[in-house]
Amino acid sequence: MSTELLRAVNIVKTFGPTKALQGVDFTLHAGEIRGLIGENGSGKSTLCSICGGIYGCDSGELYLKGEPYHPTSMVDAQKKGFAQILQEMGTISGIKVADNIFIGKEKLFTKGGFVNRKAMYKAAKEILLSLGVDDIDPKAQIDTLNFEDRKLVEIARAMYDQPDILVVDETTTALSQRGRDIVYNLCDRMAAEGKGIIFISHDLDEIIEHCTALTVLRDGVLIDTLEKDRMEPELIKSLMVGREMVGDYYRSDYDPTYGEEVVLDMKDVFDGRQLKGFNLQLHKGEILGIGGLSECGMHEVGRLAFGIEKPLQGHVKLGDGTEITQPSVATKHRVGYISKNRDQESLMITATVAENIELPSLKDLSKGGLVFSRDEKKLVEEQRELLSIKCASINQGVNGLSGGNKQKVVFGRWIGNKSEILILDCPTRGVDIGVKQSMYQLMYQLKKEGKSIILISEELAEIIGMSDRIVIMKDGQASGEFMRSPEISEHTLIDYMI
Ligand SMILES: Nc1ncnc2c1ncn2[C@@H]1O[C@H](COP(=O)(O)OP(=O)(O)OP(=O)(O)O)[C@@H](O)[C@H]1O
Ligand SMILES: [Mg+2]
Repeated sequence: MSTELLRAVNIVKTFGPTKALQGVDFTLHAGEIRGLIGENGSGKSTLCSICGGIYGCDSGELYLKGEPYHPTSMVDAQKKGFAQILQEMGTISGIKVADNIFIGKEKLFTKGGFVNRKAMYKAAKEILLSLGVDDIDPKAQIDTLNFEDRKLVEIARAMYDQPDILVVDETTTALSQRGRDIVYNLCDRMAAEGKGIIFISHDLDEIIEHCTALTVLRDGVLIDTLEKDRMEPELIKSLMVGREMVGDYYRSDYDPTYGEEVVLDMKDVFDGRQLKGFNLQLHKGEILGIGGLSECGMHEVGRLAFGIEKPLQGHVKLGDGTEITQPSVATKHRVGYISKNRDQESLMITATVAENIELPSLKDLSKGGLVFSRDEKKLVEEQRELLSIKCASINQGVNGLSGGNKQKVVFGRWIGNKSEILILDCPTRGVDIGVKQSMYQLMYQLKKEGKSIILISEELAEIIGMSDRIVIMKDGQASGEFMRSPEISEHTLIDYMI
């Protein structure tokens, strides 16, 4: 066996009543790309956070290259050679790209009390280029970048110190194919140089293709580590959930059935940036999938349909003629929206699980100005059960939830609100395969009840698996349209994306 880079021995971690890790032993060797998989809340991020100095553990020991290792903070861990790309957004708003890359390291560019910004921009540019990113300006304000580019900036920050160990926590689900390839290349390169990678993902195909071994966690316990030759999807799934998974994953029919009634109409929409005369009609009982490359404008379609942004020209109207001008109008007319940028746009991060779920339903719940807490509790508990949201109680802050469980809370909010139209931008991002399956079945059931869904996604498999009709976008316009059929493959669609 090659050199041992990291060893965690008998790690125990609790958060109040939650046992996040129950005595985990984990070893990472040089040259490994080690996958880490497990249901939402199984302890993956917590294990890496402990190794990365973000949390201390209740008990257990850590060794880095054979030496006792006690990281005191993320910066301290990074100095010792352990870097992490966090699951949540890890860039800092209000400052430039280069400042984000060199945060805490300004000293490198300081002489006589002055920061040599020119040298800093140059160094930032070099590190971005070394990742294969040539279109991010180090001088740009970080807030002008989209989600994907901000993730790439985070990667650049992690790579500057040339770490021995890199954690990639659910990063690829937030990225388009281009961003994913950047991450895969980086992992391959590091592994070839004898570094080690811990790669967290819920995407089995991705793990099987890119990881050299895979560790499965369940309820804070390390279940098994599979070498490449044992990485079989069915085995992995059963190790993850502790039982065989049965039933359909996506919907099983191939009938594109929906009503003629148009419930949402986007006409000749220009938004001044991505969309250039975009048209879209959503029908009653339709699941309409929208796919494309990350810059094609599909995420903007979702934002406009919910009123977060207003068209400069053209309109977004509901079936009854109501124009969607802002989110409050959309919500009032039972339009629900899940943003790709969950933590900043969908969740009230400082509020509880209950408050987040009941937010748009308060009006329905209140009778004569009073909200009855019994009804409130019922609504929230129903969603918690339906989506198996893992939380200590519904009064727990969403901040303490694992990434996938946060996503379930946002989903539950709009199901609980009995939305007639759902605009879902990457709704299953970071959700484990068991819950993903429930979400797909739920979408299908909603469709059959006559609800209408726009499913915007970078996962072509899920668009193909679920949609009655698929619209592929390119450069702010529809470049192809397909009715549901067993003939459609990812290749068919990719041809219209590029
Ligand atoms: N800061 C915190 N406060 C309270 N509980 C927490 C905190 N961080 C994690 N937990 C709990 O610890 C458990 C493990 O969470 P963790 O984030 O490690 O899961 P995960 O495997 O990364 O899940 P996901 O796939 O959803 O990201 C969960 O039950 C979670 O709610
Ligand atoms: Mg996690």
